[in-house]
Parts: sequence; C-alpha cells; structure tokens
Amino acid sequence: MAGLIPQQFIDDLLTRVDIIDVIDGYVALKKAGRNHQARCPFHEEKTPSFTVSQEKQFYHCFGCGANGTAITFLMEYAGLDFVSAIEELASRVGLEVPREGGINPKDAHLTQLYELMELVVHYYTRQLREHPRAQQAITYLKDRGLTGKLAADYELGYAPPGWDALINALGNSTEALGRLYDIGLVIRKDSGNYYDRFRNRIIFPIRDQRGRAIGLGGRVLDQDDTPKYLNSPETPIFHKGRELYGLYQARKSLKECDHLYVVEGYMDVLALAQHGIPNCVATLGTAATSEHLDRLFRSTSRIIFCFDGDTAGDKAAWRAMEVALPLLREGRQIFFMFMPEGQDPDDFVRQFGAEKFTSNDQRVALSSYLFETLREQIDLSTLEGRARFAEKAIPYISRIPAGALQALLISDLAKQCQLQEEALVSLLKETKPAPEIVRSNVRSAQTARRCTPMTPISKAIQLLLHHPQLSISDEQLTRLRNIKDPGVEFLLELLEFCRSQKQVNTARILEHWRDNRYGKRLRELATQENPLIHDDSVDDEAFKNELIDYISDIERSIHEEKRQMQRRNIKGWDDFRQLYDKSIGKPGQGTS
Ligand code: CTP
Ligand code: MN
Repeated sequence: MAGLIPQQFIDDLLTRVDIIDVIDGYVALKKAGRNHQARCPFHEEKTPSFTVSQEKQFYHCFGCGANGTAITFLMEYAGLDFVSAIEELASRVGLEVPREGGINPKDAHLTQLYELMELVVHYYTRQLREHPRAQQAITYLKDRGLTGKLAADYELGYAPPGWDALINALGNSTEALGRLYDIGLVIRKDSGNYYDRFRNRIIFPIRDQRGRAIGLGGRVLDQDDTPKYLNSPETPIFHKGRELYGLYQARKSLKECDHLYVVEGYMDVLALAQHGIPNCVATLGTAATSEHLDRLFRSTSRIIFCFDGDTAGDKAAWRAMEVALPLLREGRQIFFMFMPEGQDPDDFVRQFGAEKFTSNDQRVALSSYLFETLREQIDLSTLEGRARFAEKAIPYISRIPAGALQALLISDLAKQCQLQEEALVSLLKETKPAPEIVRSNVRSAQTARRCTPMTPISKAIQLLLHHPQLSISDEQLTRLRNIKDPGVEFLLELLEFCRSQKQVNTARILEHWRDNRYGKRLRELATQENPLIHDDSVDDEAFKNELIDYISDIERSIHEEKRQMQRRNIKGWDDFRQLYDKSIGKPGQGTS
C-alpha cells in the first residue's frame, strides 16, 4: 500500500510538518537544550528519557529504545496504519494525499470487495427483519437473551435457507458472482455453478477496527446442524489471525478503554455487551496471536482473557499467556479469568450477572497465573521442589522485557524458592528465551546497542544519517562508483539523495527507505550510540574529515577483501601450476 502514495509527496510532507507539534499534541514536551523531552509514552518511567529532535525530526527514547519519525509516532502511539498516518499529517498542513497514476487497479479491486461486503451485511441484516422464515432466528436470539437493540448494534443478520438467496440478491452478473466468490461468500461446484456459503444461519458481520466490513460468522439454528459455526474463509480483505470480533463496536462505544475482555465466542461477546459490558472482543475461532495483542494494546493497556471453563479453554489461556510475555512492556497488564467448569462467559454473565463478572475478585494477574500453574504438583517444602520451580519459571520470566515487572517476578520467585535474587538473575542470563518468542514493537535499548558491529560502511551511513549536509569530493564519488558492493551502492544512493534534496534530515532519510530492505538497518543506525555523532563541540569540518576517512577505510577494506579472494582462489595443484608457470614465463600447459 505504501507504494501507492508517491515517495516525493512523503518527502515533501515531512519538510512541512514539525514532529514537535505532532508529538506535543499527545505528550507534553519540554524544551531541554537543543532537544525536547518528556516522560516516555511507550514505557513507564519517572525521569524523562524520551527525546525529540527538531533538527533531525526524529524521536528516541534512551530507556526503551522506541524511535522514529512523525509518521512512526502516529503509527506506534496513535495506532494508525501507514496510509492513515500520512493522511493525518497531510490534513494538518492542508494537503490532499495524491495517488500514483490515479487509482492502482489492485486497490480498486479491494475497494470493490469492501463495498460488496457492505452490501452483503446490509442484505443479511435486512433478511433478519423481513424474510418470511426469519422468525425462527429472531426467536433463537431472544431465547438467548439478546434484544433487538443489541442485534441492531452488532448488525446481526439472517442467511435464508436455500442455495442461492445471496446469489439472486447480489450475484446477477458473471462479474458480480466473481466478486462474491472473491470475498468467500459463494462456493464453486465442479460443474462451474455457484451456491451460497451461508444458509439458514444467524450472521455475525465482522468489521475491522476502522469499521470496514471484512467477513462473516454464521451460527446454525438447530442444535443438530453442523458445523455449529462457519466463518468466511481467508480472502484478500479478511485475515483471521489479525482480526477480532467486536473490537470496532467496543471502541465505538467507549472513548477511553480502560480494559478489554478477550473471550472465545461471538455469543460471549454479544451476551456480555447485552449485560452492559461492551468492552469485549473474540478471536475468530483461532488462538490469540501476537498480532491480536498488538492490536488490542493499541486500544487499551489492560487485557483480561476469559476463556471457557474446559480443557480447551485452559489450553487457550496458557497459550495466550505465552504469546503475551514478550509484549509486556511497562504500563501494560494482563489478567485471566476462569469460568466454572463447563461454563463460558455467556453462561456466567446470564447466571451471575455483570457485577460478579466484572468484579476484581474474578481475575488473577498474569504473574499469579504463571506461578500458580507452574507450582502445581511441586512440593515447595523440599529443596528439590524449590529448585524445580525456579528452573521451570526462569525461561518464562526471561521472555518478559527487562523492566520492573521482570524484576518483581524475580524477587517474588526468589522468596518462594528461598534463593538469593542474584542466583536467579545469573540463571536468567544463562537462559536462552524459548524459541517461539514473538517480536515486540519496541526493542529495548540494550539490544539496540548490541546490534551488528560497525563496518566503515555502517559508520559512514550513520554519520550521514545524522549529518546529511556532509558531502565528499567528486573524485571520491567516482572511485566509489567503481566498487561493486551492495553496501557501497546503498551508500552512494544515500549520498545522492542527501545531495539532491533541500532541507534533508534524519526523518526524511528514514521515511525515504521505510519499506526498503535497508529501512531496518537505517533505523538501527539512527539510534545506535556513537559519542562522536552526538558531540556538540565537533564542527562540520571535523565531521567531513571523519566521513572522508570512513570512505578511505571502505576502499581499503574492499581491496583487501579482493586480494584475500584471489589468494583463496588458489585451490588445487592445477591453479598452482598455472600461476607458477606464469611466474617463470612458461606458456600455460593443459593437463599433462
Ligand atoms: N468456532 C468456529 N467453528 C466451529 C466452532 C466454533 O469457528 N465449528 C469458533 C466461533 O468463533 C465460536 C467460537 O469458536 O464463536 C467458540 O465456540 P464455542 O465455544 O463452541 O461456541 P459458543 O460461542 O459457546 O457458542 P454457543 O454458545 O452459540 O453454542
Ligand atoms: Mn456458548
């Protein structure tokens, strides 16, 4: 999608907006020397380590490593996607976002699919009100305690029985049928004919968090029909592992979302909303993924998992806990609720009411859940038991980002195991986090410092990133152009970009290469510590000399590499013979 907005527009846009204004709208900034500062909005802290540079149009937190441009800030803090972030910035300075070559055909097709999905939702909700056979569906919903108001809020619908109700309504041409097929709502037979996927079912429309209809869930009315639930398949506009049922409605009904419940089923979401708990979402018949959690943590800082009171629910809870550990940066909290055996949240809230469901006594913090589960079947009164407990717990604790929560868990564990904290810390250091670790958006400052060692090319790129006004002589440029090396080629591209642009700064460089394979490395280099670069007493002339030195180093190291390659090429006797013959002036001989 990013390619659709001309890069030139993004470059220009960044010269017009000021990152200070953008961030100050969300987090109050204070001027401190050349930079602005605040307490970091991405992690909990007492003293400000979040720094914004007007000159570089770049923010960086020395505590948690969060960093980026105005665009990144809107994406990471305000939860916008890339295109919306650009649109937001453009509207601040009164610009229309242009699209390359009019509308991209792929985009146009997607737009058609979204529009069609909207029509489908409209069609099915209307059937619930008007179809002669809908009475059974209405009775069913009423029996489950749902009112017409709730059905309207969640746009519940009814797919009529028969094979072609939807086809007749919205698939009257080959093209239209093709599109219904693309959004997964009709199925193609071997004969080439189509039939409706959803028949005689209650329909649950699924919207993404922007409110676009993207897929459907459907439930049977008769206990005997199978499968009980049916969902849209994966389509170009529907990806189950990312979406959450109810998130759009939850966000719409609550301005400030203090916490969100994650449950298993559509009916759980609806029953809870019916009981005045609209801050509920459900995964779509899949396990909770880190993408789900990332998305949820953009809307709230507290998540409460509430799975069914059965073996599958227990497994889902444990799995969710594992996925959540690496995402637990400071300020974020996770709780678990356990339903009585055989009950789900729907049963629970109908039997015991909303007050009991939402009461603090019903939930346990992730830390208690983790420790209590691991401690099961371990006898802490024996030394062996305590050792076993520590060994089991450490790998989990090691997956939590370093910070207060991790420290508290260590100290709690130390007490329970009657061990010195230091002993646990050294165990922690030796433990490799389990492999299924899921990426976290914000890398800790420690890892940022530990990244790839600096080659002369990296050093030159880093210097340019912070001081893009620096240039080198034409002679050096020509010599660089003769070197065939991907790193050097990138450096040349960067030098040319800096030369060709007016008002170039760190942010504009980062945004220019955002989606390119160099983007990630550039971001690393932008935050990697380098005392020289941040030394205010060094002047431009000195920086320029530094750059020239790096470039000489590059040339030298590339030549050295070549020589080594040549040396290594002398592999066998034949090579040696040929070289020897050459050196003593004999014409080369073939095999003897
Ligand atoms: N699910 C599914 N396919 C199935 C069964 C379930 O996709 N064949 C998903 C649905 O998203 C459903 C969720 O898993 O909402 C929970 O399933 P289940 O616990 O069986 O359903 P309930 O929500 O309890 O359904 P109900 O109360 O309507 O029986
Ligand atoms: Mn249920």
